[in-house]
Amino acid sequence: MNNEKLNEIRKELELDLEKVDSEAYLNELKVKYLGKKGLITELNSEIKNIPNEQKKDFGMAVNEFRNLFTTSYEQHLAIFKEEALNKKLETETIDITLPSKKIKRGSLHPMTLMTEEFEDLFVSMGYTVYEGPELESDENCFQKLNIPKGHPARDAQDTFYLKDEFENFLLRTQTSTAQVHAMEENTAKGPLRIVCPGKVYRRDEDATHSHQFMQIEGLVIDENVSMADLKGTLEMFCKKILGDKVEIRFRPSYFPFTEPSVEVDVSCFKCQGKGCNLCKQTGWIEVLGAGMVHPHVLEMCGYDPKKYQGFAFGTGIDRFAMFKYGIPDIRTIYGNDIRFIEQFDRKDDTYEVK
Ligand code: PHE
Repeated sequence: MNNEKLNEIRKELELDLEKVDSEAYLNELKVKYLGKKGLITELNSEIKNIPNEQKKDFGMAVNEFRNLFTTSYEQHLAIFKEEALNKKLETETIDITLPSKKIKRGSLHPMTLMTEEFEDLFVSMGYTVYEGPELESDENCFQKLNIPKGHPARDAQDTFYLKDEFENFLLRTQTSTAQVHAMEENTAKGPLRIVCPGKVYRRDEDATHSHQFMQIEGLVIDENVSMADLKGTLEMFCKKILGDKVEIRFRPSYFPFTEPSVEVDVSCFKCQGKGCNLCKQTGWIEVLGAGMVHPHVLEMCGYDPKKYQGFAFGTGIDRFAMFKYGIPDIRTIYGNDIRFIEQFDRKDDTYEVK
């Protein structure tokens, strides 16, 4: 093999590489030069037959050819790959005008809707929302609300008790327990104006009672707070939720943590007080328990009852939702039947009694 022959091969190689215009052709050249019977492969296997004094030059030439080819090969390949990618990106654009897959819109649970309605109303009157725990100590749920162990008021509020080392713990029976937390946490022992919505538990189960239901509690503490403030507040509350026409009345009642205590009725918003099945022909519907915070309770929670008075009220959120949406059985509220839940929506602000 002489120099002339090597030069010829170099020329051919250079010419071939200049002609590369596709990946397919590039791969053909790879076979032609580096394949099993490729030109460079063959030159390589000839090295052993070359006389010693020419071996070095010959070997260098073969290496040079191989480098020339592989560098050029890699450069071309990179360009082809990039071109292919660009083409793909150009053709694969997303058409954002095409209709998307329909996503089913959920709806808020009637309890959430009702709770938010109450919260919005009280926040607009300057109250803050305060949530106490559902798992309570006997002390907070009963004792600090003036219901010591063995008090008959406990009979009406049987609940779920925890065992073993948590023996003194139970699921709260009323949101009134949040009053205790709020008063104790308020280290300034100054005025308070809160509403406390949340779940409560009792050992009850029928069409109008569920072992789990929801209440909302209101508590106002300040100097010179009177029963008149309570009445004005509750009148406003009932009119805003049930309609301007409703009237309220106070009936004397008993709660251990308020004194005096009242039960609050609203004139039947279905028959306007004439008498119907909803109000059981009485013209009135009981909706709230309320009263002036008992001085013992204030004292047990660190307040000075000589300086501060307060009023409190509590009502069932479920009960209001049943009135508002005409739900006949409280158990459907917690049944999680999607067909039931879907019927309530924020858009439905109309007041309907069936
Ligand atoms: N917690 C009482 C109940 O569950 C209601 C109530 C709240 C009464 C606040 C007076 C004051 O029946």
